[in-house]
Amino acid sequence: MKKGISIPRGTADILPPEAAWWHSMETVARAMLNGYGYHEIRTPMFEETELFARSVGQTSDIVQKQMLNLVAQGDRIDEQGDPVALSLRPEGTASIVRSYIENSFDRQEKLSKLFYIGPMFRGERPQKGRLRQFHQIGVEAIGPESASPYQDAEVIALSVALVHLFGVKEFTLKLNTLGTPQDKEHFGNYLRAQLQPRLGDLCLDCQNRFERNIFRVLDCKNKSCREVVKSVSLDYSYLSGESRSYFETLKSILDGLGLKYIQDPCLVRGLDYYTHTVFEISCPALGSQDAIGAGGRYNQLVEQLGGPQADAVGFALGMERLFLAGGAEIKQDADGILDAFIIALGDSVLPRAFQLLQALRGKGVSADMRFSGGSLKSQMRQADKSKAGHVLMMGEDELKRGVVTIKYMKEGRQEEVSLEDIDTIRIKMGIGE
Ligand code: HAM
Repeated sequence: MKKGISIPRGTADILPPEAAWWHSMETVARAMLNGYGYHEIRTPMFEETELFARSVGQTSDIVQKQMLNLVAQGDRIDEQGDPVALSLRPEGTASIVRSYIENSFDRQEKLSKLFYIGPMFRGERPQKGRLRQFHQIGVEAIGPESASPYQDAEVIALSVALVHLFGVKEFTLKLNTLGTPQDKEHFGNYLRAQLQPRLGDLCLDCQNRFERNIFRVLDCKNKSCREVVKSVSLDYSYLSGESRSYFETLKSILDGLGLKYIQDPCLVRGLDYYTHTVFEISCPALGSQDAIGAGGRYNQLVEQLGGPQADAVGFALGMERLFLAGGAEIKQDADGILDAFIIALGDSVLPRAFQLLQALRGKGVSADMRFSGGSLKSQMRQADKSKAGHVLMMGEDELKRGVVTIKYMKEGRQEEVSLEDIDTIRIKMGIGE
C-alpha cells in the first residue's frame, strides 16, 4: 500500500463543525474589538526575515530557533547581491509596524488602533498547546497619542474582556514594567552584577543568556535557576523616577477598574521590543504552556524600523489556547441551519429540482439537496439531519402539475405552491418580505 501523506507536525486541521465554531468566535471577537474602536488590518503571512530580526530581536529564541524560512526567496537583492531572505511571520506586531510605516499612518492620524486575527508560524518542538501554526487575535495601538497609561489600561482591559468572551474563568493577569531603554540597560547591568557570582548554578541555556539576553534568566523554568533568581532583589531601584511613576499610575487606573493583577518583577517576556509595561495572562490548568496571551509597550520599535517616533502598546492572545482554557463546547449547530432541503423523487425531476435550488439560493434562501437521489425515506433522513426548517418535495406528478410541496417541519403540515413562484415559496417559509 502506498504511504499516505499526513499533516505536518505541529499543525491541525480545523474540521466542521469546529471551523464554524471558530468562525462564530471570531465574529463576536471582531464585534468587541470594533466596539473598543479598533479596526482590522490584514498583512502578508510572510515578510523579509530581517524585519523579525530587527524587531523581535536577533538574540530572541524566536529568531534564533523558531523562524520558518521560505525556500523560495524574495525578489529584492541585498547588498551582497543575494535575494533577500523571507520567513513566515512568527507574530503580528512587526508586520503591523512595518505596514504602519509603509502606509504613513502617522500622517493620517495621531493614534492608529488596529487589530488582526490570523495564523502565525513558529518552528517550535510541538507539544500540547505549542504548535508550529497557531492563531492569534492581536491588537496594536500606535501613534503619539498612545503615550498614556490609560492606553495601556485600555489594551489590558480589552485582553481580559476577550479572555472572558471565550469563557475562560480561571486565569491570572501578571503585570510588570521594564522602564525606558536606559532603565532596561541599568536593569541588565544590575542583573549581571547580581548573577555573576552564581553563574555556575545556572543551567547551560541561562549561562548563554547571561551574555546575550540576560532578562530571560528571570523566567527560566529550571529549578536551580529559579533558586538563584529568588536570591536577587528585584525592587525596581534600577528604574528611573519617571518609569516608576508611569507604572504606579497604570496600576491605580487598573485598580479603579477593579481589574485584578499580580505584580511580577520576573515577568520580562521573550521579545526584545518591549519597554515600560509588560503583561501576561496565564491559565494554570493548561500545564506547561499556560500563557493564553501577552503584550506590552514598545515605544521605540516604530523608529527602530525606520518610521517616525511613535509610542505603541498591544497584545496577542493565542486562539488554540483560549479554546483549550475556555473549554467551550463546540456547538453542533454553529454551522447554521438550512432554511430548506429539497427532495427530488426520480431522475427526471432532478434538473427542475436543481433549478429550484439555485433560484432559491439566488434569493438568499439557505438550501441544499442530495444529487444522488434515493427513496423518500432516506432523503427525509438527510433533511432531518440538516435540521432544515422546511422540506420542498417534488415527484413526477408535482412536476407535471408545475407545483412543489412545502413541508413545514415544526408544525408537520404541508401545502402545494407553484414551482414558478419563487417569491411565494420564500415568503411562505418566512424568509424576507
Ligand atoms: P507572544 O507572547 O509571543 O507575544 O505570543 C502571544 C500568545 O500567542 C501566547 O501567549 C500564546 O497564547 C500564543 N502562542 C505563542 N506561540 C504559540 C505556539 N507555538 N503555539 C500556540 N500558541 C502560541 C506576541 O506574539 C506579541 N506579538 C504580542 C504583542 C502584541 N505585544 C505587543 N503587541
